Amino acid sequence: MFTTSVPVTGPGFLDRRDELQRVADAFERLRAGSPQWIAILGPRKIGKTSLLLEAARRARGGALRFVAIDAFEVLPVSLEIVRSYALKVLDVVLGPDLATSLEALAARPADYRAALLQSPVFSALPAEVRSTVIELPEAPVEPATLRRWLDLPERLCHALDLHLVAAWDEFQELLAIPGGRRPIDLPPLLRSAWQHHQRVAYVISGSARTTLTELVTARHSPFFQHFAVLDVGPFPREESVRLLTGGAEPARAIPVNLAERAHELLGGNPFYLQVLGEALAAGNEEPSLKAALGETLFSRTGRLALYFENEYQRLVGRATTLAATLQSLAVAPRRLTEIATAIGASSGSAAQYVDRLGDAVVHGEDGLYSLADPAFGLWLRWREPGGTVVPMKLLGDEAERRVAEELARMGFELVYQSRASRGAFDLLAIRGTHQLGIQVKRSALPLRFDTASWNRMAADAERLGWRFVVAAQPPGEREPVLFLDPAAARRSRGVSLDHEAAIPNLLAWLGEGGPARGRPRKRRLSAR
Ligand SMILES: Nc1ncnc2c1ncn2[C@@H]1O[C@H](COP(=O)(O)OP(=O)(O)O)[C@@H](O)[C@H]1O
Ligand SMILES: [Mg+2]
Repeated sequence: MFTTSVPVTGPGFLDRRDELQRVADAFERLRAGSPQWIAILGPRKIGKTSLLLEAARRARGGALRFVAIDAFEVLPVSLEIVRSYALKVLDVVLGPDLATSLEALAARPADYRAALLQSPVFSALPAEVRSTVIELPEAPVEPATLRRWLDLPERLCHALDLHLVAAWDEFQELLAIPGGRRPIDLPPLLRSAWQHHQRVAYVISGSARTTLTELVTARHSPFFQHFAVLDVGPFPREESVRLLTGGAEPARAIPVNLAERAHELLGGNPFYLQVLGEALAAGNEEPSLKAALGETLFSRTGRLALYFENEYQRLVGRATTLAATLQSLAVAPRRLTEIATAIGASSGSAAQYVDRLGDAVVHGEDGLYSLADPAFGLWLRWREPGGTVVPMKLLGDEAERRVAEELARMGFELVYQSRASRGAFDLLAIRGTHQLGIQVKRSALPLRFDTASWNRMAADAERLGWRFVVAAQPPGEREPVLFLDPAAARRSRGVSLDHEAAIPNLLAWLGEGGPARGRPRKRRLSAR
């Protein structure tokens, strides 16, 4: 099973042994009375939330409780998040005693209070804790109430002899909560409350690496030196392979060499691998990397393509200069001066653009700038004009590559598809309203087909509504690619195509309407 839409825990959770250990150590220190705070940093979808949830699952039991809040849960982010946090804490701490969710009841304050009054645990709490809890659904958001809500977890844990881990995900969003008439800056408030807590440990995480690193390491920050930084990065090769090969049912097993190639191309982001794995394992065919990448990454509606489209909009917006900078880095790692030349700007401007692209770009020790995410780079190259040839360059053999390049030069868009949707053809080439199936042959003319496979090809073209041609590219030769007209095929003990079937101008051939859907004729037709 591949899991692509929720964080992974339990048996599906892979890798991350050291990271889990570090989180477990922090939990241990909390139990021992000297809580350690952790900042989990890493790009989106790298597995930060999964790591935390899995660590919490493993530590479950005893007097350790766990609460998680995600700043993206309620948008736009506001100080109300502190109220929902306190309600979640109540649920974690009192929930077992109440068998109902106080967070859910908070919208109906009378029911909320009624539920609390039935709880013996609640009744035994100190008076000021009880009044904070009772007022929680309705009290206005202001500095004094915020402070009480932030201290509530510590008070509850103290009263009930518990320990709590409070995880704040996408923490960077809290740094920019817009103020109302009297703006309240949340981070200093959090810091001043949290630093006195002994029974609660804090974990923050988020994808804005630079911002969060600054938050926990800069001298002027309220959180200076309060957090231990835990970096979450891509999977190493063996773990990527394990994710792919272990995720499929035995009948659709994904071979190791395919998995290794996937890791080389996409890198070790577990989310990308899960999405790819899902595509590889779908359908009744043998897993095909060409088809799976064609479906997920190199396709306008593919799951990874849509994800990257969104990332791209977030990064670039309408700034064409940033778009050009990204594009130039997608081609190859570059020096600043090279980026400047590529985009026609001064080095100074190029430096600014690179800066604005933030965590998407890394600056290596060799002085070269490159994209942080190789899969994003592939997608960027693919969506450039003429870029539909990129998948064939990456995944095709020499013949397929040359055929694809030739077609791209003529303005075709190229697609790899699953066998079910491409029949006997290797490639689909699209230009305007024309859909052309391409069968690539890696041998010298004349080409020979047995009647059965020829007929299958013709029938597939009919069924798919495509025209088709055979592209001949003998191995190792630098001869130009020849496109051969199926209507000029000769039948005698099988079907053959020779030089006379060559189409001198494929675009003209297409425009003319071509032959009747590639059904072979007995006699040779005159060349078109
Ligand atoms: N340790 C892991 N093992 C297997 N898959 C994982 C693991 N971590 C993450 N994933 C995959 O990546 C996706 C994103 O993980 P998530 O923890 O939500 O990332 P983040 O919080 O960094 O955005 C998950 O839905 C899952 O498909
Ligand atoms: Mg997350």
